[in-house]
Amino acid sequence: MPNDPMRWENGKDLADRILPLLAETSPGFVSGEEIAGRMGVSRVAVWKAIQRLKGHGLAIQASRKGYCLEGRPDLLWPSYLAWLLGERFPNLSIVYRETIDSTSTLAKRLAQEGAGAGTLVIADQQGRGRGRLSRSWFSRPGKSLLFSILLRPQVAPERLPSLSLVTALALARSLEKQNLRPMLKWPNDLLLGGKKVAGILLESSMEPDQIEWVVVGVGINVNYSIEDWSQELAPRSTSLQEVTGKSLNRAELLRGFLEEFSRHIDQWTTAGSFAAQKGAYLERMAWLDRVVDIRSGKECKRGVAIGVGDGGDLLLQVGGEIERIRWGEGSLVIDRNNPIC
Ligand code: BTN
Repeated sequence: MPNDPMRWENGKDLADRILPLLAETSPGFVSGEEIAGRMGVSRVAVWKAIQRLKGHGLAIQASRKGYCLEGRPDLLWPSYLAWLLGERFPNLSIVYRETIDSTSTLAKRLAQEGAGAGTLVIADQQGRGRGRLSRSWFSRPGKSLLFSILLRPQVAPERLPSLSLVTALALARSLEKQNLRPMLKWPNDLLLGGKKVAGILLESSMEPDQIEWVVVGVGINVNYSIEDWSQELAPRSTSLQEVTGKSLNRAELLRGFLEEFSRHIDQWTTAGSFAAQKGAYLERMAWLDRVVDIRSGKECKRGVAIGVGDGGDLLLQVGGEIERIRWGEGSLVIDRNNPIC
């Protein structure tokens, strides 16, 4: 069982406390008596908690030997995540909400209140999920992986834009372990089959010569089917389930991402630049050497996307010049006769 320094807020409920014990014992059985003893409750209370877990869709076998959890549940409960992630990420501090306005909004507030690096805010659903460029981010209960991680990187503030690309690369690599081949649309969208499957939102607070905090918000469309998308989203959104044809376990996806993310962040911090990771990003970059329109606020430029710079900026060849684009949103140009943007 995980203990401190992992922290979870909703772990006081008996069902929530029992779950890690079942997961730890799985595929073996643990007796009702043992659970009751370890939790300091009656066997009837254990039985009721087990029914509650079953009500959440968990496959729990009951026999004379006790209870056995079958498979790995697709649950984001904090005690379960703490069990799943605790050994590998002992400094993670998990804040879970079933529903929330936005995990990034809460993570930012916690950052301002002094929360430590490694605070992970995760929710099953968001009411006001936020995307880049003041857009909203759609989610439905049980179908998305939505989380925000607080970092306090000790690097120069001008290096921050490349962190978006590093996060996208880490996410792509974690999905590659699921036999998926996402492409990266600069700066940090993940595409499958040309449609968006995940987005990343970086928000930060700076002092003149240092980064005070960064909140990395990640939204992955995991278990949506085609009918879940609105008319507006359907042409440009997809999910892991749509592409693989099977539902995926969000807790396991989170673990896979955190493994890649911590490795990539360590590299990015110690290497002192994005240069070492740039090659891997370019291998996955969507629309490389293609004509794109890049909108940055009211400005719009058309050119050939020829790569990214060491700072994470997009290198756009416009006529004979190479322009460095620091932020914006790209779209592929299918017909060059169409007006720009
Ligand atoms: C984008 O592609 O526009 C970025 C989308 C980022 C969405 C995630 S979901 C978790 C976190 N909380 C938010 O409100 N936004 C980010």
